[in-house]
Amino acid sequence: MSLQGKHILLGVSGGIAAYKSAELIRLLVKHGAQVRVVMTHSATQFITPLTLATLSQHPVGLDGEDLDEPMRHIDWARWADVVLLAPATAQRIALMAHGFASDLLSTLCLAAECPVVVCPAMNQAMWSNPATQANVARLEGYGVAIIGPEAGEQACGEIGAGRLLTLTEIVVQLTAHLNSAEQCLAGKKVMITAGPTIEAIDPVRFLSNHSSGKMGYALAQAAYSAGAEVTLVSGPVAMSAPAGVTLVSVHSAEQMFNAVQASVQQMDIFIGCAAVADYRPESVQSQKIKKSPEVMTIQLTPTIDILASLNDLPTKPFAVGFAAETQNIKDYALGKLEAKKCDLIMANHVGIEGTGFGSDDNAVTVLGHDLQIELPKQSKTMLARAMISIIADTYKQRKL
Ligand code: CTP
Repeated sequence: MSLQGKHILLGVSGGIAAYKSAELIRLLVKHGAQVRVVMTHSATQFITPLTLATLSQHPVGLDGEDLDEPMRHIDWARWADVVLLAPATAQRIALMAHGFASDLLSTLCLAAECPVVVCPAMNQAMWSNPATQANVARLEGYGVAIIGPEAGEQACGEIGAGRLLTLTEIVVQLTAHLNSAEQCLAGKKVMITAGPTIEAIDPVRFLSNHSSGKMGYALAQAAYSAGAEVTLVSGPVAMSAPAGVTLVSVHSAEQMFNAVQASVQQMDIFIGCAAVADYRPESVQSQKIKKSPEVMTIQLTPTIDILASLNDLPTKPFAVGFAAETQNIKDYALGKLEAKKCDLIMANHVGIEGTGFGSDDNAVTVLGHDLQIELPKQSKTMLARAMISIIADTYKQRKL
């Protein structure tokens, strides 16, 4: 993950999470970025400008102290590749949403033509207040990216959504946002399998699993937004394919295998996100099986492993697998990385409430041959952006 050479203008506004901005600057610098800081007056009550100036190695922009440099809000906005507001208070979000130019940071945000990323941090009731939510929606409508907040225990003692996202996650999501804005997969062909497969028993019954396809569809959207030409090979799900993505609809593992084989050789990247059935009934009854008092046995036969079959191709795309596990997640996932000869594997814990199959959220550990990145529980949309960014970075490094 790299922010190498990026100019980041960090806006710090006045909430208790402002103290975390010192560590955030260190992390951004560690990832190769140059950082300049603008603080609001209230932020200076929580952490000193001297601390942030020392860590960023640049003077900090403060209200009313730019008289010798009256065009600072324009100059700094032009210098920035991205404006990052972390933490962003409810007041700051409201000012931005309504276009106020009342202090250095707000004028700078208005003057910025680069991507703007906002990391909210506030009391949970302030975050869920309809006025804040409306302001956030308004900012998103203007193309501002909102990262976080996360849920948990707050400085005020209350519990709920409103905490500043963890600093490592801010770096992951910021990188993902910049990678997407820079079209990190422009000109690349990406194939993604998604959803479940269904294996017929007779004309009315089948074997399947709980996969909703949400993760695969979010990946298709994120890859398309990052500039890729995307082919989505999907089992039956209750969603439409994202606009601009080529959908190939299949039912069974065999159909999915055939659809993948038909064009995978032209792909640069393959992402196996589908929950492919490992077994299918050995024979499919042509007529509906009638009920009887006898115990019934269905003989099952293994399906082809679509991901592993890429190893038989003369030219294999960069391969990303998923490992859906209920226990020993990392060990099993690393086993699959080796056995299926993937470049990356996304290990996810299924079978727990609130993540994995069917839910809107997920948490994964990205494992590579010399890489391990934790992506904590978050929406599948956010997670997909982070995954695509990591996939693009790793793919490029492998090609170097
Ligand atoms: N996969 C595949 N074809 C199959 C089975 C799995 O392409 N017939 C892919 C999945 O899309 C995923 C990876 O292999 O990217 C791992 O799938 P998973 O279900 O976690 O593991 P399995 O290999 O099926 O092993 P097990 O069910 O024993 O955990």
